[in-house]
Amino acid sequence: MNKTVTHYRSKIIHGIYSYLLKPIFFLSDPELIHDRMTDFGKFLGHYHFGQKITSGLFNYKDDSLRQEILGMTFENPVGLSAGFDKNAELVDILPSVGFGFVEVGSVTGDKCSGNPKPRLWRLPKSQSLMVYYGLKNDGCEAIADRIKDKKPSIPVGVSVAMTNCQKNLLIENAVEDFAKSFKVMESVANYITINISCPNLEGGQPFISPSNLDRLFNVLDGIPTKKAVFVKLSPDLNQIDLDSILSVIYKHRIHGIICTNLTKSRDNSRVFDKNIPNVGGMSGKVVQDMSDKMLAYIYKKMSKKLVLVGSGGVFSAEDAYKKIRLGASLVQMITGMIFEGPQVIGEINQSLAELLKRDGFKNIREAVGVDNLQNL
Ligand SMILES: Cc1cc2nc3c(=O)[nH]c(=O)nc-3n(C[C@H](O)[C@H](O)[C@H](O)COP(=O)(O)O)c2cc1C
Repeated sequence: MNKTVTHYRSKIIHGIYSYLLKPIFFLSDPELIHDRMTDFGKFLGHYHFGQKITSGLFNYKDDSLRQEILGMTFENPVGLSAGFDKNAELVDILPSVGFGFVEVGSVTGDKCSGNPKPRLWRLPKSQSLMVYYGLKNDGCEAIADRIKDKKPSIPVGVSVAMTNCQKNLLIENAVEDFAKSFKVMESVANYITINISCPNLEGGQPFISPSNLDRLFNVLDGIPTKKAVFVKLSPDLNQIDLDSILSVIYKHRIHGIICTNLTKSRDNSRVFDKNIPNVGGMSGKVVQDMSDKMLAYIYKKMSKKLVLVGSGGVFSAEDAYKKIRLGASLVQMITGMIFEGPQVIGEINQSLAELLKRDGFKNIREAVGVDNLQNL
């Protein structure tokens, strides 16, 4: 499609979303809206015409955005972060929305109903969401069943975490739970992410402890798979803990790191809303600088070549490009799509292609880490 046409197409949808749909959506409970949007996305994805119309409205392609990474082809670097499509119900429609990849989950060994409601809040002044789902999902077997016969045109990763239950307060049970979902999901996923950074678990984040993490990775290393394995980190780690975790990661079968998950830290100058809930983790603009800082630190310090994925506060092409220039090969988003509208994925891709051209890069891989000296 002609670039001027895609530009005006995005502008019109952006206007409809900002002035009509978003004000209505933002009057209702965020979880209810999310569930209704999931139903609508499932309906569209079920029909070929639904996929075609969606693609015509949103998709954007440019050769400069295509990369081969860890045996997977990414048509563009913008992925959907874990947590939006928890149960893999949107895998048929998300490629048409323009994403280069999606990460479903987080998926756990057993089905889990999550924390009591309310468990999702908007922080409009901070351009953030407060998330307290507590790993609500249908469980690994049901979700694997849902994915197994699908043939999506983009990589589908699965984020695995441990079931949020009393039993998993014992580390050996938590490791077993992770191993169960890893085994079940690796056969249906293009890549697996080990989520050790959920801020809403009953027992906290036990795998921040290097010895627990080593124990977990020793077990996961023993599960045969050819799929790439990522680990997702919390932005709230202090430097000493981060360094210890990195040294454990380097010893194991880990191909990449996702920076970062939600922040629990209330002491954050990007929080402008008053009376925020005292449970949950924050996304969006609240976590952006923390994620970028961690990404830059890891890229600079990496003693083993790992693929970095930037997640946190991507609302525009400039946000995505910053992460790429700091060292991310791919980026992920959720909150930006909720605040800006679904056309933002195509907008980001179109503007990213223009930024690459402006800076003399033929392909996105040439821009990875250029603002961040690497000491390999
Ligand atoms: C509603 C919601 C649910 C989330 N659930 C998960 C989850 O289950 N697993 C996970 O690894 N991250 C989860 N996250 C974190 C996101 O994957 C992402 O890392 C974070 O929101 C920062 O990106 P953003 O600023 O683009 O939203 C969730 C985020 C949101 C907003």
